[in-house]
Amino acid sequence: MNDAIKFSSTVSAMTRGGILVVTIDNAPVNATSADVRSGLEKALVHAEATANVAGVVITGAGKTFIGGADIREFGKPAIGPTLPAVIEKIEKLSKPVVAALNGAALGGGLEVALACHYRVASSTAQVGLPEVKLGIVPGAGGTQRLPRLIGIPAALDLITSGRSAKTDEALSLGIIDEIAKADLVETAISAAQKLSGKQLRRTGELSIATNEAAEIERAAARILGRARGQKAPAEAVRLITSSNRPLTEGLADERATFLTLRDSREAAALRYVFFAERESSRVEGLEGIEPRPVKTIGICGLGLMGSGIAIVALAAGYTVIGLDQTAEAAEKGRERIVGLLERNLASGRLDQNGFEAQKARLSVTASDADLAPCDLVIEAVFDDLAVKIDLFRRLDKVIRPGAVLATNTSYLNPDEIAAATAYPERVLGMHFFSPAHVMRLLEIVRCARTAPDVLATGLAVAKKLRKLPVVAGVTEGFIGNRIFSAYRREAEFLLEDGALPHEIDAALEDYGFPMGLFAVYDMAGLEIAWARRKRQAAARDPATRYVGIADTLCEMGRFGQKAGRGWYAYPDGKRTIDPDVTAIIEAARTQKGITPRAFPKSEIQERMLKAMAAEGEALLAEGIAARPSDIDLVMINGYGFPAHKGGPMFART
Ligand code: 3HC
Repeated sequence: MNDAIKFSSTVSAMTRGGILVVTIDNAPVNATSADVRSGLEKALVHAEATANVAGVVITGAGKTFIGGADIREFGKPAIGPTLPAVIEKIEKLSKPVVAALNGAALGGGLEVALACHYRVASSTAQVGLPEVKLGIVPGAGGTQRLPRLIGIPAALDLITSGRSAKTDEALSLGIIDEIAKADLVETAISAAQKLSGKQLRRTGELSIATNEAAEIERAAARILGRARGQKAPAEAVRLITSSNRPLTEGLADERATFLTLRDSREAAALRYVFFAERESSRVEGLEGIEPRPVKTIGICGLGLMGSGIAIVALAAGYTVIGLDQTAEAAEKGRERIVGLLERNLASGRLDQNGFEAQKARLSVTASDADLAPCDLVIEAVFDDLAVKIDLFRRLDKVIRPGAVLATNTSYLNPDEIAAATAYPERVLGMHFFSPAHVMRLLEIVRCARTAPDVLATGLAVAKKLRKLPVVAGVTEGFIGNRIFSAYRREAEFLLEDGALPHEIDAALEDYGFPMGLFAVYDMAGLEIAWARRKRQAAARDPATRYVGIADTLCEMGRFGQKAGRGWYAYPDGKRTIDPDVTAIIEAARTQKGITPRAFPKSEIQERMLKAMAAEGEALLAEGIAARPSDIDLVMINGYGFPAHKGGPMFART
């Protein structure tokens, strides 16, 4: 064994058994920053020129192999060598280069590995080309080498979804050659030793199967249909499906496309979202505050919401005690939760052991006293103040004072709930979105008296639940529903001013929302919002503009899709424009003396965005939201705002 050679401040190597073991150590995720690229290049030159080096192993320090290109370098002046140049050197080296994947190999990280002549992975590694999620395509050979290794259909799936594959899948697809059974680097060294002097398998020289035309065409059509106007997936499809051409030509096209997309508004928006997600759990004033330890979570109310929360808590490793009003209701809740676990088992998301372990950590009860062991209790009962206050007062009697109490209310004032309890400082809001086991967003509501370590506990639990937490202050509807109300209000103003529901919906879908607002209403049902409006009617200022069209629809029993009619009609279940609704809207306009006019799509989009951004500004001014990017995350993850537009606050810039 020799002394370590330092090729740059982030790349060093040791020679072991005649193999140069190169380690990239560029915390936090070993991104291929300029210093890494130059260090790697020097290591390759050294390996080529040194007679007693028979091969190279490339690996990463810490728990990541390489997390990709350094996203923070995007938009800054380029510093050589470029990643494609380094990768070309790897592939062309006359000595074997083996990738030892000690953890995630993503984006440029997988592209480095693809150019190596052999890939060994530890069992916890994962591979993926997530570039489309950043509005770009792989820019260092991913769209050209992956199809050569695993075929066009599989490459289309991985690259256009941006998903990661675990080692078992990566092995069966042929992305990696071996999963290390013993020490990873030792395994990689012995692979390099065996390959020394042999004909090397260079991915770029492999040919691509050409007998899959129909399958490829179907897959491409499916991907383009889902792209919602985004450029990156379409460009990825183009590059992958044309990869059966000389490598240099494909690589040049890929690089040019990558550079153009990298400078696009779409990519800037998605990069902003990437960093916003990592920023959202950093809360001013919580630096150095330790969350309270949580092992057991109580969930009150085992309806749809409570069961969904239970599923994510079980998956995250918590012990769950579910409470409902009667033994029968609790048992029904248990059945619902187990049913969801069974679905995960059937779909392969959970193996038999995992299923048994999660089921064993679940118990249900109708007795408050059984919640005594809980470190955190989340209530998901009927959204009624008296019901919640009664529950929290009962909990006060059985839960130890250090345990945290969370309310999942959407519209009630959690300060009022907290004030009614013995220890208001341990109360916070944890506003899950429905279905709780699917939606990533979790608003963490800081009440007037929430203790800092209680807020920190909410954030820590959210992270463990694999949710995206956004901290909100107390206001009716918190961040999401406040902005959603402004959005809805503006859509209704537009109705009165001259646009029809399907025109507004088309403009929103054209912008990138998966579904227009009125179609969403019909799907969710109109009656709950109607009941709320009726409750609020007395307090409404008669001088503010109020659109009563939704009320008229409800009075006519047009409660949406379930009722067969709402903002649209649903003959045979198919959404169609309803002339009766048009007539109701026209009558409402006449009654108010409004002369309708036509609205182009762009004006509808502009007005909707402006309304959301204005409400966002108000939330910032009131201190309800800490930063514009938190608002954007809420709208993207809770309300279908297209991520590639960055959210309403980003879009206005
Ligand atoms: N560049 C710069 N910074 C990055 C980064 C990257 N590629 N990936 C992660 N980071 C930073 C994060 O911003 C975060 O910084 P912070 O601590 O200051 O907030 C820190 O690394 C840790 O990130 P996570 O909190 O996400 O850490 P995890 O351990 O949960 O996850 C990961 C690690 C799986 C690597 C995850 O960070 C990830 O998915 N990263 C992005 C991967 C990616 O998109 N790669 C493609 C880049 S584009 C590319 O490679 C182009 C190429 O084709 C030329």
